[in-house]
Amino acid sequence: MLKRILVTGGAGFIGTNFVYKTAGSGFEIVVLDKLTYAGGKDNLDPLINSGKIKFAQGDICDADFVKTSMDGVDAVVHFAAESHNTRSETDPDLFYRTNVKGTQCMLEEAFKAGVKKFIHISTDEVYGSIADGYFSEEDKLLGDSQATSAYSKSKSQADDLAMEFGRNYPVVVLRPTNNFGPWQYPEKALPRWISNILLGSKIPLWGEGQQVRDWLYAPLTSECILFLLENGVNGNAYNVAANHDPEITNRTAAEWICRLLDADPEKWIEFIPDPRPNHDFRYALNVEKITKLGFKPVIDPYNQFKITADWYKENRSWWKKRKEEAESIYK
Ligand SMILES: NC(=O)c1ccc[n+]([C@@H]2O[C@H](COP(=O)([O-])OP(=O)(O)OC[C@H]3O[C@@H](n4cnc5c(N)ncnc54)[C@H](O)[C@@H]3O)[C@@H](O)[C@H]2O)c1
Repeated sequence: MLKRILVTGGAGFIGTNFVYKTAGSGFEIVVLDKLTYAGGKDNLDPLINSGKIKFAQGDICDADFVKTSMDGVDAVVHFAAESHNTRSETDPDLFYRTNVKGTQCMLEEAFKAGVKKFIHISTDEVYGSIADGYFSEEDKLLGDSQATSAYSKSKSQADDLAMEFGRNYPVVVLRPTNNFGPWQYPEKALPRWISNILLGSKIPLWGEGQQVRDWLYAPLTSECILFLLENGVNGNAYNVAANHDPEITNRTAAEWICRLLDADPEKWIEFIPDPRPNHDFRYALNVEKITKLGFKPVIDPYNQFKITADWYKENRSWWKKRKEEAESIYK
């Protein structure tokens, strides 16, 4: 039984969703987070103040701090990262430091301390874009040649490190597609669009909005991680995706957001020149491996978009204090 779980980046978007799903279900949760612009201790305060989880502020690149945090830890779920593609264009070194060096530090200290399971959260972006068909786990090449941004390149190198450790230690790598849901920082597409409309601004849709993302509801990613803590085979990477049929273009996603917020898409969507014209067009993953292992998430995208839009409607103060900083990167 893996009792004490160290969650890095647990104050970020997916981390917070994971901590809420896990706390109180028999696990002792310790969150390690540097609290960058993307980390919100306010997300976790109800759990911290009621003694349901423990929280330690610090840097995954600080070996002494990480070593101290490993005390009594059975498993690590490693989310902490710089996660935004647009920001990675202006500060690639920060992305390399956090995502590659930080992951290395976490892996080294975890196994010096005898941790029994390490779940590394990678991304579908390590494979790059695919015009047709789906990437399987073995399609990832060593190095970062398939990745197209400083973010995805750093994640690709981190994925390699985790897989390398997985030859000798109990490491499982998860490669999820684009997540959405509550607590996502409003720099990212869906919360940016929702909060824009709630503030009376239009949705800026890049290019013709024909890009395809595989939208995966963050609570499902959290379920998947819990599943892998128990069932993931060491040394393996697993894709997880929603595999929507039909696929959801960015234009469709924006139209759904409009509809959910009673806004006419004709008036509220503004097509703008793509600020990252060569960015990946379509992500698509084959999920046969994790399905065979027994993980079958409930995919219900329109309803999960609705729950997300409702959350932002009900939690205005959460995103309002983040909105100005989030928008500043697009100026
Ligand atoms: N959001 C997505 O759509 C998505 C999809 C696939 C994979 N992922 C991966 O999932 C993980 C979590 O993504 P997210 O969207 O929740 O990210 P996020 O940006 O919302 O949260 C990242 C968290 O990491 C913390 N952090 C950053 N640098 C740190 C450091 N040096 N030391 C300690 N903590 C640090 C931040 O404070 C923040 O709490 C990342 O590894 C990301 O690459 C995300």
